[in-house]
Amino acid sequence: MICISIMASLICFGSLVQCQKNEIVEDLLNVIFKLKKSKCYGGGQTSIPAFTATLSKDLTPQINEIIIFDSVKTNVGGHYSSSTGIFTSPRNGLYMISATMRSTATKHLHCELMVNEGMKVKIFGTNYSTGTISVVLLLKTGDKVSIKKDHRSGEGILGREWSMFSGYFIA
Ligand SMILES: *[C@@H]1O[C@H](CO)[C@@H](O)[C@H](O)[C@H]1NC(C)=O
Repeated sequence: MICISIMASLICFGSLVQCQKNEIVEDLLNVIFKLKKSKCYGGGQTSIPAFTATLSKDLTPQINEIIIFDSVKTNVGGHYSSSTGIFTSPRNGLYMISATMRSTATKHLHCELMVNEGMKVKIFGTNYSTGTISVVLLLKTGDKVSIKKDHRSGEGILGREWSMFSGYFIA
């Protein structure tokens, strides 16, 4: 009986150590990444994957169209494409992704944040109001993040720097 409980404790302790080990390695990787992006190592903030792009013109999107935010304000690492509207995750990790979209006069606006083919959250605006989303996502290298028009037709998005899509790597 004692033997079994000692064994169980050891197994338990073993998995605890294993768990702590993973967290330590993760912390170390974060420190290394922070060092890499620090000025001392030639990186500076400019090595953190990050983007912001806005819509320069009003748009009447097609059903399921990926919205192309054509006016790029920030694109560190070049992982956002202003020809496809897609941000491609450059590495595994946590990302902050946000979007603000303003609808045109008297119209509703329904859009969706997509990761690959999967919808994560929805965005809604109406009659010149804005819809905003902020999501923290665990992404894998190569995941494709975009804002898509949903299945409803006849809606309008206000451009002229009123609608935007942003994201950055946290850790
Ligand atoms: C849209 O907003 C304007 C300004 O607030 C308001 O006068 C108008 O009644 C609204 N139209 C609709 C269809 O909600």
